[in-house]
Amino acid sequence: MEQKKRVFSGTRPTGRLHLGNYLGMVKGAIELQNRPDLDCLYCVVDLHGITTPYDTKTYASGIRTVVLDYLGAGLDPQKAHILVQSAVGAQHLELAYYFGTIYQVSRLEDLPTYKEKKTQHPDYVNMGLLYYPVLMAADILIYKSPLVPIGQDQEPHLEVTREIARKFNSMFGETFPEPQSFKTNAPIVPSLYGEGKMSKSKGDGIILTSSLEEIKAALAKVPTDSGKGEKFPAEGPLVNLLTFVELFEGHDRAMQYRERYKTTGIKYGELKTELAEAIYKELQPIQERRKYFEDHPQEVNQILKDGAEYARSIADETLKEVRQKMGLAR
Ligand code: TYM
Repeated sequence: MEQKKRVFSGTRPTGRLHLGNYLGMVKGAIELQNRPDLDCLYCVVDLHGITTPYDTKTYASGIRTVVLDYLGAGLDPQKAHILVQSAVGAQHLELAYYFGTIYQVSRLEDLPTYKEKKTQHPDYVNMGLLYYPVLMAADILIYKSPLVPIGQDQEPHLEVTREIARKFNSMFGETFPEPQSFKTNAPIVPSLYGEGKMSKSKGDGIILTSSLEEIKAALAKVPTDSGKGEKFPAEGPLVNLLTFVELFEGHDRAMQYRERYKTTGIKYGELKTELAEAIYKELQPIQERRKYFEDHPQEVNQILKDGAEYARSIADETLKEVRQKMGLAR
């Protein structure tokens, strides 16, 4: 039987999953797990999460939170393998080290995420942070995954992964695929408040476990205008608001609002209530599923154990091949 193509993706346990994670990555991961020709591994990348400041006392529960968010959102242990990265840490880190020996430091220093994190945490510029994309390449390539569901912000990292695969293949013989990203219809979910993308650090306020009241409160804070004018603004919070309308209520509804802006005017109070209800309608079943898993911790432990065992068996195989190709005696 031909080996199914593998899919790998991960999320850092640096906070609860928000709508950006859900629409930009998780929905793509769900689409791929439903394809019978693919073998999917979805991971909580705890080794990546410790490259920025974190709290040792709450980190383990943060990992668990993302696992529950994953399961609630619909990553399905019947269809995909779900694991925590450190359970296969020895393997991922070993491969990352080998990759580190064939990749230039200068290229890593140039990456936008590295520069961003350096500015964000000037007192926490560590080796792990620089090495971050190399470990990410190892995460993906240890399973020889050609397909990676990610949001747009991860694209530079995937480019590094391809460069590493190419370099390794040219130095030691054809071993790794050059992975491509798999994008949803929302590869850059904007911040609700109009600046950049939605992110955990900006605390945009809508997470997968948000109640209807919390969603309403988050939307209430989005600044609006009079609701009427000759031309709908080209950028800013109003455009983003309509992006969310489009994502949760459909293209036609968003177009109607655009039209209304130029004619009768938009009543933002009504728009926001309707949007909040549409978002909540999508989150409610997620929250119910999440609650089920929260109430069945043994089941979750077993899912993670199975996921790690499966991952380890593939990772060990790849490492064997890599060591041999690199001339390491083992
Ligand atoms: P992380 O934890 O920052 O985010 C997890 C996933 O969510 C996507 N995402 C978004 N997509 C669209 N719009 C947004 N506003 C938005 N915010 C977040 C991210 O693109 C990502 O896909 N480096 C990775 C974790 C990682 C990984 C990997 C991913 C480590 N190893 C191997 C794939 C494969 C990260 O920090 O994602």
